[in-house]
Amino acid sequence: MELRIRHLGQRDFEFAVNLTNLEGWGLTPEDFRRLSRLNPKGCFVAIQEGRRVGVVATTVYGRSAWIGSLIVIPEMRGRAIGTLLVEHALEYLRMRKVETVRLYSYPKTAPFYQRLGFTEEGEVLRLLGAGRTFKSQHARKMVMKDLSQVAKFDRRFFGSNRSQLLRVLHNEFEDFSFVLTENGKVLGYVTAKGKGIRYELGPWVSTPGRVDVAEELLHSCLSSLDGKEIEISIPAENDSAAKLCKEHGFAEYQRCVRMRHGPDRYGEDAAAIFAVCALEKG
Ligand SMILES: CC(C)(COP(=O)(O)OP(=O)(O)OC[C@H]1O[C@@H](n2cnc3c(N)ncnc32)[C@H](O)[C@@H]1OP(=O)(O)O)[C@@H](O)C(=O)NCCC(=O)NCCS
Repeated sequence: MELRIRHLGQRDFEFAVNLTNLEGWGLTPEDFRRLSRLNPKGCFVAIQEGRRVGVVATTVYGRSAWIGSLIVIPEMRGRAIGTLLVEHALEYLRMRKVETVRLYSYPKTAPFYQRLGFTEEGEVLRLLGAGRTFKSQHARKMVMKDLSQVAKFDRRFFGSNRSQLLRVLHNEFEDFSFVLTENGKVLGYVTAKGKGIRYELGPWVSTPGRVDVAEELLHSCLSSLDGKEIEISIPAENDSAAKLCKEHGFAEYQRCVRMRHGPDRYGEDAAAIFAVCALEKG
C-alpha cells in the first residue's frame, strides 16, 4: 500500500489534536500551530490511500533539534508507519545540517527509537500540581526588551539558541513569563503555556546554585496561574528542581527517557534546567 508523507498544515491541526487526545497528551490546535509556525517545513503527516495515518514534528535550534508528537492511528500501528515518519524527520534534519537530534520517549517506546539509532542519555520526571498565590514575588514580568538577554542566558545552559521559541512564547504567554535580574544581569527566567484549566510550566531556567532564584521564579509563575492545573517536566539530574516542586505540592506521575541521535553536542546543563519547555520541543 502506498504511503506518502507531506507537510502538516492548518487543515491537519484538528486531526492531530484528536489523535494525540487518544493518548491524553493534552495538546491543543495552538500547540500544533506554534510547532508549525516555528518550523513550517518540519512537521509531517503520513497519508495512506488518501487517509491521514500519523504525524511527527521537529523543532530546529541551529545544529541541534528535537523530534516530538510522534503518533500513528491505533489501527495502523505496527506497520512501519512510525519508523517511516522518524526516518523522514531525520532526513529532513540532515538536510537542515542538524548534527544532534534529541527526543523524549516513554520507557516502553525506547526500544523502537533505539532501533532507529537513538541512545538513552537521561530521564525527565513529569509532575502535576496546581497554581496558587505566594506573597514573596521578587521576579518581575518579562518584557520584550528582556528577550535578547534572556535568550543569551538560556543558550548558556540549554546549549542551543532558543531565541525564536522564547519570542513566540513571550508573545503568546506574556502574563505567565517572568525574569529575575540582579544589577541588570539575568539570573533566571520562567514561562508557562496553556489555555483553560490546564497549563505547562517551562522553560524554567535558573543559575546553578541559586535555588532562591529558582524558587522566586516558581512563586511568580504559580501565582499567575492560581487555581490552574499545572504540569512540569524536569531533568531527573536536577535534584533541586525535584525538591522545590515537591515542596510546592507537585507529585511525580511519570518518567520519560531523553534520547539522542548523533554526537553528544549541544547538551544542556541540567543543574540550570528546572523545567524543560515541552516534551516535543526540549
Ligand atoms: C510509537 C508509535 C508511533 C510507533 O509507530 P508504529 O507505526 O506502530 O511503529 P512501527 O510499526 O514502525 O514499529 C513498531 C515497533 O515499535 C515498537 N513499539 C511501538 N509502540 C510500542 C509500545 N507502545 N510499546 C512497546 N513497543 C512499541 C514495537 O517493538 C513494534 O515492533 P513490532 O511491530 O515488531 O511489534 C505508535 O505505536 C504510536 O502511535 N504509539 C502511541 C503514541 C506514542 O507512544 N508515541 C511515541 C511517544 S514517545
